[in-house]
Amino acid sequence: MRIDIITVLPELLKSPFEASILKRAIEAGLVEVHLHNLRDFTSDNYKSVDDYQFGGGAGMVMMIEPIDKCISKLKQERQYDEIIYMTPDGKTLNQGIANELSLKENIIILCGHYKGVDQRIRDHFITREISIGDYVLSGGELGAAVLCDAVIRLIPGVLGNETSALTDSFQDNLLAPPIYTRPRDYKGWKVPDVLFSGNFPEIEKWREEEAYKRTKERRPDLLD
Ligand code: ADE
Repeated sequence: MRIDIITVLPELLKSPFEASILKRAIEAGLVEVHLHNLRDFTSDNYKSVDDYQFGGGAGMVMMIEPIDKCISKLKQERQYDEIIYMTPDGKTLNQGIANELSLKENIIILCGHYKGVDQRIRDHFITREISIGDYVLSGGELGAAVLCDAVIRLIPGVLGNETSALTDSFQDNLLAPPIYTRPRDYKGWKVPDVLFSGNFPEIEKWREEEAYKRTKERRPDLLD
């Protein structure tokens, strides 16, 4: 998979890809992530990427031209399955969207700034708009980092068996059950006995029941 991220703040997006699982996925050649600085696609001396809103109103708007130039250059080089715009009025990211995107070959992610982008960009280039939650960030970069993390860890081979995505919360629309490790008894706080029974069907049944209980308690909406 290849992900091209278009941003005015590439430095904000470097570190998530330089550590841990995402770094290993890149080093293993399972994913390529390319950051594109929108200012490299400007044509004036000030490297302007934004301008005042037509009709008046507070806040600047990201202009079409640099974004068009950047997207068009990328599209000349390869075909893209999705061109995603990160925005608080997009569809809220969930595990289903992450699963779906993890199967794509090439995607572009456009990070908004200021008040957002000229509507014509959304009308003519964007295939999908994604929000990471009902709050407003100062730009789309952190949302793009969240999206990339959620998607990349699902690419086959990125996670080992021991961290398999198959048992994640949400993978089957249930939250994950409680988990424990050594010691068995810490200051009198004990690990449930069933986990030492050696009876794997019994353990699996306990985990399913706990996952269901937890979901019912914390996220009953997931059970609807
Ligand atoms: N840009 C600003 N706020 C955002 C959000 N909640 N999700 C994605 N991109 C954003």
